[in-house]
Amino acid sequence: MGVRITGWGIAVPDRIVTNDELSLTLDTSDEWIVERTGIRERRIGGSTSTLGALAGTRALADAGLTTSDIDFLVLATTTPDRVVPATAPMIAAAMGLTCPAMDVNAACSGFMYAMRTAQGLLETGNRRILVVGAEHLSRWVDWTDRNMAVLMADGAGATVLEYDASGTDLLSFSLGTDGTAADLLTCEHGGYLQMDGREVFRRAVRVVVSSAEEALKEASITADDLALVIPHQANIRIIQAATQRLGIEMERAVVVLDRYGNTSSASIPLAFADARDNGRIKAGEYALLTGFGAGMTWASAVVKWSR
Ligand code: ACO
Repeated sequence: MGVRITGWGIAVPDRIVTNDELSLTLDTSDEWIVERTGIRERRIGGSTSTLGALAGTRALADAGLTTSDIDFLVLATTTPDRVVPATAPMIAAAMGLTCPAMDVNAACSGFMYAMRTAQGLLETGNRRILVVGAEHLSRWVDWTDRNMAVLMADGAGATVLEYDASGTDLLSFSLGTDGTAADLLTCEHGGYLQMDGREVFRRAVRVVVSSAEEALKEASITADDLALVIPHQANIRIIQAATQRLGIEMERAVVVLDRYGNTSSASIPLAFADARDNGRIKAGEYALLTGFGAGMTWASAVVKWSR
């Protein structure tokens, strides 16, 4: 039994906030942010449901489908619009969907967790699943806290996964959590995002490398076989350190964090859509998707692109 990736869509707010603009109100600089993170600008605005619905609508159009074709909506988000209800039903309503719709929260690994969930749903009789990663992180940032304000941003990406008995694009997954590290990156009810950046950095490189190695092994390929690495877009230095340890040169890594910052669950679909739109992946080529986030959670997957 197989899963095909048949469409992609993205949505980002129009409002661009540059590093220089942040430097007007925070004790920071474009030079520090670019050197330590790789981020040059980010998009701020909208809401998780509005951005998610727009990305979802675009993914459906890209797949040549209509709302009646979709059997299930899985939304990955760590910034739901409200505590109750979940945000997926609001996206469904905005798109005109009445199929089952639910949220998955695995922070920056969320999109991969949602893809894995969708794969299971396809194995149990569903035929077409819309997977959305959408975030409104700016709402949970203390804009006087330079530690978080320079990193976080808003955006959404979506994909359509379809059942196909003849073959599969999803070759392997390696997912995990370490809940003993939960306090490294948190946001309490009514509070703001807080992070021990150095420790997250250290652990992120480790889990990206180990889960990537596992996913590659399960797919029976090596790092040399990869056309692309599509990593979670948190920090260019994490991407450099992880790819170096995996023996993959940076030219094969997709980087969009310079334009979009860290959009958590949205970052991998934003990067995948960018790579596809720029012709960076061709039919028959392999891509490694890999991410990590609060929890801590991590996830890697190997995709064989077939379109
Ligand atoms: N502007 C200017 N200076 C700053 C800033 C800033 N925005 N932030 C910190 N500094 C200062 C610090 O105060 C420190 O000064 P000092 O040397 O005088 O003490 C100095 O810069 C270095 O600070 P570090 O914290 O050591 O900087 P580091 O190189 O570790 O970079 C960063 C910090 C960017 C947060 C990095 O640790 C990182 O990217 N960590 C991982 C974050 C991440 O990936 N999160 C992903 C999960 S997100 C999610 O799941 C929702």
